[in-house]
Amino acid sequence: MFKEIVTERLHLRKIKSLDAESMFSYAGNKETTKYMAWPTHNSIEETQEYIKSIMPLYKTKKYYDWAIELKENGKMIGTCGFVNVQANKEFAEIGYIIHQDYHKKGYGTEAVQSLIEFGFKTLRLKKIYARIYKENKISIRLAKKCKFTLEVQPEHCLAKDHICFGALSYSIKNLE
Ligand SMILES: CC(C)(COP(=O)(O)OP(=O)(O)OC[C@H]1O[C@@H](n2cnc3c(N)ncnc32)[C@H](O)[C@@H]1OP(=O)(O)O)[C@@H](O)C(=O)NCCC(=O)NCCS
Repeated sequence: MFKEIVTERLHLRKIKSLDAESMFSYAGNKETTKYMAWPTHNSIEETQEYIKSIMPLYKTKKYYDWAIELKENGKMIGTCGFVNVQANKEFAEIGYIIHQDYHKKGYGTEAVQSLIEFGFKTLRLKKIYARIYKENKISIRLAKKCKFTLEVQPEHCLAKDHICFGALSYSIKNLE
């Protein structure tokens, strides 16, 4: 079940319609979204539509997408979550994005580490994986820092704007 997560500096909570402006400031940035599997948002209306589309999903209580908010000032600086959560909850894919003005401050690592804990302890996942474009060295660095290891799998195709780009799978296993 979805729940809010509080870390040292972050408050992870449901995304809400009032987040549209904050979200568009990174989801509409071509550079920041270069390695995301979804297309860059072209307008704030697109972001508003996206947020509207996910609202009913929270009601299922099986939708795991968090807004990343700074505890110190309530600023929404990114999102993170699980997709492809398997019915038997054996494994799920993790995704994350932080606003460009807040990079390299440890927020990405802090958010991902808290999701790993939630995924293993609350969802009882056995494995969490991330599909990362091989050029996305920063995300690979973050994944390794959070103890993800490269899966023994060949590079595979991850489509972006209908074009196939090489991606690698990194994963972390629940050893409990
Ligand atoms: C990947 C991303 C979430 C990292 O967020 P972040 O908050 O900057 O991450 P952290 O501050 O926790 O840093 C993680 C590591 O990456 C390094 N790093 C972060 N930004 C960097 C940059 N611009 N240049 C070089 N290294 C960088 C950090 O130094 C840290 O490594 P270290 O502790 O060994 O020094 C962020 O760059 C982002 O949103 N990128 C665009 C979206 C994306 O690619 N998402 C992942 C899709 S798989």
